[in-house]
Order: sequence, then structure tokens, then C-alpha cells
Amino acid sequence: CGIVGYIGKREAYPIIIEGLKRLEYRGYDSAGVALYDGDNLRISKTKGKVSDLEERCKNENNTFGNIGIGHTRWATHGVPNDVNSHPHVSNSGNLAIIHNGIIENYESLKKELISRGYTFKSDTDTEVLINLIEDIQKQEDVKLGKAVQIALNQVIGAYAIAVFDQNNPDEIVIARLGSPLTVGVGEDEFFIASDASPFLEYTKNAIYLEDEEMAIVRLHREIKVRKIKDDSLVDPYIQELKLNLEQIEKGGYEHFMLKEIHEQPKAITDTYRGRLLRNEAIIKMAGVEDNMKKFLNANRIIIVACGTSWHAGLVAEYIFEDLARIPVEVEYASEFRYRNPIINENDIVIAISQSGETADTLAAIKLAKSKGAFVFGVCNVVGSSIARETHAGAYTHAGPEIGVASTKAFTTQITVLTLMALRLARAKGTISSSEFRQHLLELEMIPKKVEKALEADAHIREISDLYKDSRNCLYLGRGYNFPVALEGALKLKEISYIHAEGYPAAEMKHGPIALIDENMPIIVIATKKGHYEKVVSNIQEIKSRKGKIIGIVTEGDEQVRALADHVIEVPETLESLSPLLTTIPLQLLSYHIAVLLGKNVDQPRNLAKSVTVE
Ligand code: G6P
Repeated sequence: CGIVGYIGKREAYPIIIEGLKRLEYRGYDSAGVALYDGDNLRISKTKGKVSDLEERCKNENNTFGNIGIGHTRWATHGVPNDVNSHPHVSNSGNLAIIHNGIIENYESLKKELISRGYTFKSDTDTEVLINLIEDIQKQEDVKLGKAVQIALNQVIGAYAIAVFDQNNPDEIVIARLGSPLTVGVGEDEFFIASDASPFLEYTKNAIYLEDEEMAIVRLHREIKVRKIKDDSLVDPYIQELKLNLEQIEKGGYEHFMLKEIHEQPKAITDTYRGRLLRNEAIIKMAGVEDNMKKFLNANRIIIVACGTSWHAGLVAEYIFEDLARIPVEVEYASEFRYRNPIINENDIVIAISQSGETADTLAAIKLAKSKGAFVFGVCNVVGSSIARETHAGAYTHAGPEIGVASTKAFTTQITVLTLMALRLARAKGTISSSEFRQHLLELEMIPKKVEKALEADAHIREISDLYKDSRNCLYLGRGYNFPVALEGALKLKEISYIHAEGYPAAEMKHGPIALIDENMPIIVIATKKGHYEKVVSNIQEIKSRKGKIIGIVTEGDEQVRALADHVIEVPETLESLSPLLTTIPLQLLSYHIAVLLGKNVDQPRNLAKSVTVE
């Protein structure tokens, strides 16, 4: 979910609405605002997107006031409908709250409150929390900040919250545990948000709350940050933001996803800039350098991640084992954390996360740390929770990724992991100096080759038109390109809602082959390096069952062209770097199919960009 708040001299409404639009990637099932117009606390909320909320606010004439909070939701408790939308209001009608996260013990708290006469309109855990705060306020006769603190000490779960009390209308109380929250500090005004994007045009000064911290944001006062547990004061660190507005806007593209696909040449260059020094034939990565001993002594590497980042982890498994000869296991963070994994001080855990906020990945990191493992983070969002929680790390420098379907984050994650594997391979002597130099040269040329791969856009659109009405789709690849097949299938599922599966090409004959008929499109990654001949045999097997074949091939390929219904070319490169190129046409294919089907590419149904709940 996304949170925005404002307190100051401007009209709060436009700031909150624009801010929510920028945060919509965090969830968009429903949205709402609470505004205080000087006399009354007024709430407008609705199922649907922020644009639906805008309409509702206009109809309800609720757009005035210099203080307010707003929310865009990704449902956890209770279906997305008007009643379950945030803000939630306490029984007295005085308190309003927006909340991101889950209160796990809400049922027992709710029972207790019901026994004291409280009633509930929604099915949410959030409405329980606001009434708990109200109850404490009354019972203990304390101000809002104190009541929030006492309540949070009774709560089990995760949250980022903002709470407003109309009896004390010049402050907003905020707190975080497990979900991000930041305060933009302006002149006599404050902005509250899940990330800095809602207030970039107003101020570049931001305070990021840490877990278990709360703050009272009050007009004409300095912000006081405290520990929720013991009330001790924390010195807030005001960070100067480097991000600018253009970076989070669409820049002439129809969708963020398309913009981000096209940004990949630059993003990959930004990722290796300053790290890949070809003339000197070295790779410099501070996080690796500083911990070289640990890496060299590691028994194995365990990679934990979710979604697309997990696929980048699978590609890394091939690279690390192949080049640096370090055993690698790749785990879904959610499975790892609940499996009582065997892990010790000689293991290195690499956590991969675009947002740096994924709850399951964060929990896996904490578990690994508690068992003594060294944890290295690969994140895109600077200063994110995972970046801070890990012992060391490397940023991907892809720039903000807004489209829910991850694109440039994936290729830049692979770039960082490739650099790491190469650096370690060199240190371990598992790669010759000529091979190492060749890798550097080839990696440096990848951005140009991605540009070349992007030129197939129009051709891919034509192919998309032919297959957009398919009900199923199979993606096949081998070796380094098996994870790419998984990622290709995930992209199609996410944004076009066509069922798709990725499979190791050779494994097809053990099951999925039963699905193949003349209506089944099968995307086969069949680049020249690697197991080309074997993949060609797999293509023959598909052809004899009349499947429709779309081959992702190396420029100039003849053999697959003769067999396939369509081919899409990518430039030639080393096998270990090929995922950076073969991914591109698969991104474009799912993009065009989704657009042709009229789907909401940047905000597919039921998904969220940043999943801060388990
Ligand atoms: C969500 C997003 C995916 C993403 C996954 C992991 O499910 O929709 O695109 O791959 O989370 O996110 P992370 O930020 O940890 O990479």
C-alpha cells in the first residue's frame, strides 16, 4: 500500500492525490483521503484507482484543507471495497488512520474492544488498531502520540501508519515497523510518504524512519523521532535526495513499462560504470572487495529473493558456479524462512530485491543473520530496508522502476551478479586472464546489443497480434536461458493474464508436451552458444506435434528459421551474458500482447510492485 500525508500552508488535497498516483505502483485496489478543513474531518474513499477517488472527492466536495492523509491499497484483510478502504475512523469519529502492513493479533484485540462496546464497519485489521488507539487515549487520558505508542506496543505485525486526531489538528503521528515511511521536511511544512516520490518537487530533504521508530510531525516544530519500545529520543538524520522528477515520469512513452524496457541500455551502463574498468582489466566493487576473505572462504552461496528477482538469482546460479566455481542454491525467500534451513557462518547469503522492501526477503535476511551468515544485498532502491539490513551490498543503479512488471531491474540485477561472479572468479583463479578480459569486453558491449535487440520492436508487435488470443503459452530454454524462459512466462502472466509456463527445454517431453497442439504458441530460446543443437532437436519435437514456434535466435541463424513459424533475432554474445539479450524480446512480446488486449500494463490486476506483507 502507499501512504501520503501533508501538513503545512498549501492545499493538502492536490499534493495527496498527485502523491498517491506516484505511489499507485504499491497497490491500487482502493484509495482514500482524510482532510481537515479547519472545522471538520472529512473522509472520502472508494474501491478502484486514485482517479476514481479524485472523482469521488469532487462529487463529495471534499478537496479542502491544509492537513490530510491519503492511501492507496493492496488488500490483505477484507476484499477491496469502499468500506474496507482507508482511511479508517475510530468510533468517536475523531481519529483517522492509514495503514500499510498487517496486524497479526487483530482478532484478539478486536474481541477485547467489542467487549468494551466498540463496533466495526469493516473487516480490516486497521479499524481495530484505530479503535485500540482511541480506547487507550480515553482510558489513560493521554495525547495521541502516547496512545499510538502504547497501542503499537500491544500489536504484533508490521505497519507503516499515519494517524490524525481532529481534536488536535496541527499534528500527524506516524510510525513504522517493516513497511517504509519517510518525511519530507519543507519550510513550515511536512510531507509524509511511503517513498520520496510524492514530495520531490517540494523538498529534497527527507528523514527515513527506521523500524520501531515513530514521530510526531507538528506544525512550527522540529520533528521528534522516538523508539516505540522505550520512548528514547533518536537524532533524526536528514538526507538530501538525489532523485529528480523527470526520473519518475513517463518521458513520452505510453507506459512506464515500455519506457523502462527502453531504458535498459542506459541502466546496464549505469550499473557497470565505475565498476568495470576494461583498460585496467579489473572489476571494482567495494562491497565485494571489503569482504573478499569471506567470499573466498565461503562454502556456498545461498540466494534468496522473490518474483523476478528470484529469476535473476537463478541466472546468477549459473554464472557463479560456471565462472567462480562456488556452489549456489537459490531459494524463494518465503520458503527459506519457514523451512528451518541449515545455514552457518561459512555461508554467504545474497538477497536480491528491486524495491529492497519485500517482506519475505527481509525476513529471510534476518533469519540468515541470526544464524551467523554474512548477508550481501543486491537492491535497486537506495537506502531501502534490505539495503540497510544487510552487512554489505551492491546497488543496481537502474533508476526508479515504476511499472509493476519488472524489466530493467532484472537485467541490472544480472549485471551486478555477473560483475560479482567475475570479480570472484578472478580472485579465485577459476577464470584465465584472457577469458576475464573477453568477458569485460563483451559485457561492455551489452548496452549497444540491447539497443539492437530493441529494434525488433515492430516485428514483435506483429507476432503479438497473431498470438494475443492464445489461452496458454509455453516458454522453453536451456542452461543460462532456462531462467529467462521462466521470466518470460512470468511477464506474460503478470500483464496479459494469459496462462504461461516456463520450462527447461529438455524437460518438456516429461509433461508439457502433452499440451502441444496447433493452437499452442511455444517460445523457444535457441541462441547459438550453449546447447544449440539440443534445442534444435526440441524444436523438431514441437514441430511434429504442430505447435506454433517462436524462436529467439542469434543474428543470422538459418537452422531454427527453417523450422520455426517466426524468429526474433538478438545479437551474438557469450553464453553467460546471453540472458541480458534474450530477455529483451520476451519483455516486448508480453508488453505488446497486453497492450493489444487492452490490459493495464503498468498496474496489472491483483499485483503490487512492492509487497511489504508476508
Ligand atoms: C512483486 C512484484 C514483482 C517483483 C517481486 C519481488 O511481486 O510484482 O515484480 O519481482 O515483488 O520484488 P523485489 O522488490 O523484492 O525485487
